[in-house]
This record gives sequence, structure tokens and C-alpha cells, in this order.
Amino acid sequence: RWAAAAGPRRVLLASPRSFCAGVERAIEIVERALDRFGAPVYVRKQIVHNIHVVRDLERRGAVFVDDLAEVPEGAVTVFSAHGVAPAVREEAGRRGLRVVDATCPLVAKVHAEARRFAARGDLVVLIGHAGHEEVEGVLGEVPGAGVLVEDEAGVAEAAQNVPWGRGVAYLTQTTLAADEAGRVAAAIRRRFPDAEGPRGDDICYATTNRQHAVRAVAAQADLVLVVGSANSSNALRLTEVAARQAPLARLIDDPGDIALDWLRGARTVGLTAGASTPGAMVNAVVAALGGLGPLEVEERRVTEENVEFTLPKEVRP
Ligand code: F3S
Repeated sequence: RWAAAAGPRRVLLASPRSFCAGVERAIEIVERALDRFGAPVYVRKQIVHNIHVVRDLERRGAVFVDDLAEVPEGAVTVFSAHGVAPAVREEAGRRGLRVVDATCPLVAKVHAEARRFAARGDLVVLIGHAGHEEVEGVLGEVPGAGVLVEDEAGVAEAAQNVPWGRGVAYLTQTTLAADEAGRVAAAIRRRFPDAEGPRGDDICYATTNRQHAVRAVAAQADLVLVVGSANSSNALRLTEVAARQAPLARLIDDPGDIALDWLRGARTVGLTAGASTPGAMVNAVVAALGGLGPLEVEERRVTEENVEFTLPKEVRP
């Protein structure tokens, strides 16, 4: 099996890949909170959906909790990049927690849109995936006035419960596959021609760019490896987008997840990483592939990124 998986081989590195500005900011917030306030710093949910990031911050004194009830009164508490519902903020206030909010500004923008639509009486249809923290946060902004739609079939189902004459607006999760989200949005507009939505969609620049980049390499690859954790929405979407073009696409957390069978006959490997995946993990995958034989690495850059977000005041220098 080892011999069959041996190189020579070409790696096409998709670019942009790995950390987005929202993830870099969220990680920096936890690091600065640890510096400024000392350990432990509590973090509600995974700060970003990547196991290596979480383990690294744990080693440095971050304590990840699923529920604010696990945080001692008055402790420093970071809200993750995916955002929280207002009810969570209120609970933190009641418990006297010292909150530092790492919600990505592009997620906060979707919260603001949801509030604006609900304030004028619209039903807010959110296109997204059930159970994701971002979805829970956005729907939490519009209690009783929001509905989640996952696909085109969901639109028909949701439509049955909209009273005649009620205004409808729609929003999307920031990390969806652009083509799929576009189809669901079109179904909403067909069913509710007056529905207002965001201009285009709410899919963020980082998600869009990473999907374009993986498409550019997947078209020429025998295998695409997407480095990221299984609970990362944007890494999952990258894998799905790649699988529509390449014969095989797999999501891996690190080189240890690579099965030698995938590499048999794979002369050209496309490689990318989700927005929450550290660049070091991509380097580790390249090194592992290099251990199997001669490797030629080419980067395919589809665009430059220069987005930066400011830090919240609690941790600003
Ligand atoms: Fe923000 Fe998009 Fe990254 S919403 S956290 S910039 S993937």
C-alpha cells in the first residue's frame, strides 16, 4: 500500500486558504485576554471550529465551556467568533461575567440585518444549517419571527406557515456554499416575489474566496484534501465544492487522517484549508506528502485578501 501511494506527485495549493480575518481576530482576543487578565479565561463554545486551535489555547489557560452556567461568577468570558443570541448576553450580565466578544464583525452584521427586518414585522427566513452556533445566534435575535431553511424543500415547507400578507425577508449563514445558497434564495424569491434579502448574500469574503480557490485547483486534481475540523461549516462546504469537480475530496484534521488508499494514482493533489485551520497544518500535510516521494508544490492564487478587523476595547493595546 505504501508503494502504491508513493510519489512523484504535484500539489496544487489553493490560495487564499486557512485563517480569515475573523478567525485571526478571535484567536488574538483569547491570547490577549490571557495576557491581560491571566488564566483561566473562559470561552463559550469553541472559539473557532478547529481542534488544533482549541487544544493550543487550552494549553495556554483557556477553558472552553458549552454553557455559561459552567463559568464562575465574575470570570472573564469570551464569546466565540460565531456569535451569540441576546439571551446569552443577558445571562452573562445577570451573572456578572466580564465579557469580551469575539463575534466576527461579518456575523454581527447578519444579526443587525435580522433585527432590522424583524422590527418592521417581517418573517426572517435564515438560509443555513441546523444546529450551527451562528444559526442559533442569529435566530435568537428574532424570537418568534425567524425560521431556518436548509434547502429548497425547506422553502416550500416554511411557506405553508406564512400568513397571507406577511412580509418576508431572508438572510444567509456566512459560511454556505455560494451555489447552493443561491438556489435556495431563488426559491424564496419565487415563492415570495417581494422578499427582501441582502445584496447578493451574507456569505463572507473569506468563504467566497476559499470556494473560488478550491474550485480552481479541484478542476485539475485527482484528489483534493481540505484541512479542517468536521464541525467547521466552511471546511465542510469546501469539501463539498471540491467533490463536485475532483474525483475524490476528503476533509482531514491533520496528516494523520490521510489514508494511503486515497493517494493511489493521485498524481495531482489539490490542497486547501478552512478559514479556521492554522496554516501550520497545511505545511504539515505538505511535509507528509513529501515523505512519500518527490513533490512539486505550486500555489494557485485566485485573489489577494487584505481584510483586517479592530479588536474589542477590552483587549485593545
Ligand atoms: Fe468571519 Fe467569514 Fe471568517 S464570517 S470568522 S470572516 S469565515
